[in-house]
Amino acid sequence: MPNPANIVILTGAGISAESGVATFRGPGGLWEGHRVEDVCTPEALARDPVLVHRFYDARRAALRSVAPNAAHLALARLDEAWPGELLIVTQNVDDLHERAGAKRVLHMHGELRSALCAACGARTAWEGDMLSTSPVRREPVEGPAFPSTPAGEGRGFDRPSPNGEGFVARSCDRCGVPAIRPDIVFFGEMPYQMERIEQAIARCDLFVSIGTSGAVYPAAGFVQTARWHGAATLELNLEPSLGSYLFDETRLGPAGELAPAWVDEVLGNSLM
Ligand code: APR
Repeated sequence: MPNPANIVILTGAGISAESGVATFRGPGGLWEGHRVEDVCTPEALARDPVLVHRFYDARRAALRSVAPNAAHLALARLDEAWPGELLIVTQNVDDLHERAGAKRVLHMHGELRSALCAACGARTAWEGDMLSTSPVRREPVEGPAFPSTPAGEGRGFDRPSPNGEGFVARSCDRCGVPAIRPDIVFFGEMPYQMERIEQAIARCDLFVSIGTSGAVYPAAGFVQTARWHGAATLELNLEPSLGSYLFDETRLGPAGELAPAWVDEVLGNSLM
């Protein structure tokens, strides 16, 4: 493997599990509280925006009571020290990679601490909840306008929610339309920045997957793309995933133990 090698790291809910963030498909997983189609589709947002906003408001609020774990900290240490290209592509919408100090992070499924205007595609850093009138930190975030998702009929959710509460979304700073929604990629929507991800994988010498079940595409297919481009592939996971057979090597155990050991190995090798 050329040194410095270019590295792509894919992370999933399993890397945040030891921080106390529920995974999606484990016992007590997030979706068990709700049917996916009730909280994570464009149709759900148009049909019952109050339920969807409450689901994501609760997840955003829960961020305040969790902290990065040893796996996040190890990846941040690698990010800091690695002289080659390195990209952490996370399926997670929490901010634990950033709070651990990682800089080269890409959230392919969006972020809880960002809001998207469904009318014009503007993104805004977001602290408060989508339903309250509490002030929110509004720092327009530069970067590609995201494909906006029509929020039901017309532009904005000006339809009463079926549970009887009238609901009008907050208005966008940029276009003024009441169409602010969670900046989360819902099922049926395209993940963010796929071209940038595919280019990084095409250039990488090492593809590492940490804490993901391999149940959801396109992320589940990244390892095949990496192999096709000749990269070495490594999986760190608590249990075999649906894609384990595709990896050169799979190490089983908690990410909080496996990731720091792997980072020590990689940094140790790079000194040779
Ligand atoms: N250390 C390492 N791996 C762990 C740990 C841990 N402490 N705890 C759980 N895991 C593993 C599980 O064995 C499982 O394989 O993490 C994986 C979590 O899988 P999922 O719950 O399916 O989460 P993820 O793979 O991130 O889901 C992908 O699906 O629902 C969508 O958008 C959602 O981004 C999510 C995507």
